[in-house]
Amino acid sequence: MLDWENLEQLCNRCNKCGLCQTRHNVVFGVGPRDADVMFIGEGPGEQEDLRGEPFVGPAGKFLDDMLSIIDLGRQNCYIGNIVKCRPPKNRDPLETEQDACIGYLRNQVALIQPKIIVCLGRIAAQKLIDPEFRITRQHGSWIEKNGIWMSATYHPSALLRDASKRPDAFHDLISLRGKIQEIGAKVS
Ligand code: URA
Repeated sequence: MLDWENLEQLCNRCNKCGLCQTRHNVVFGVGPRDADVMFIGEGPGEQEDLRGEPFVGPAGKFLDDMLSIIDLGRQNCYIGNIVKCRPPKNRDPLETEQDACIGYLRNQVALIQPKIIVCLGRIAAQKLIDPEFRITRQHGSWIEKNGIWMSATYHPSALLRDASKRPDAFHDLISLRGKIQEIGAKVS
């Protein structure tokens, strides 16, 4: 396991997959490095690639609004992605790209030691919770893995596109708030 400085340096010069050829910036992750709650998306979009920060485009604005409903924000949780470089035209990251990158995220999780990880969307849920994860059926459910409570909700981009999913996502947020209280996770 690498420390933060070495890990970030390694990510910034990573060329383990083809995404390095088209990226403008590696999107390492953002938030307190001792956060109890982590959110994981699938991969950077255009704005994230240009700015080097996760969830700063339209989906990010929506994520901020979602989090604020339960008094969460960038100041009290860590936000990252399954892959750290933008897939061209925002396509889903390939399995090979995810496999090339996932070790960095696992190192981040090992350093942060969060109590809760919330996957944003199918890609993150299938990589971190269960390869067969069905977001429509299993969103909002909880499983404890290696001492970390894991759950998934809809990706903010899906919620932007399809407002009919928002009530379900709202319930997932309330469930997250309940889990935070239940296990005494720190969010301040
Ligand atoms: N979508 C993601 O999955 N991650 C980001 O950082 C931005 C959009």
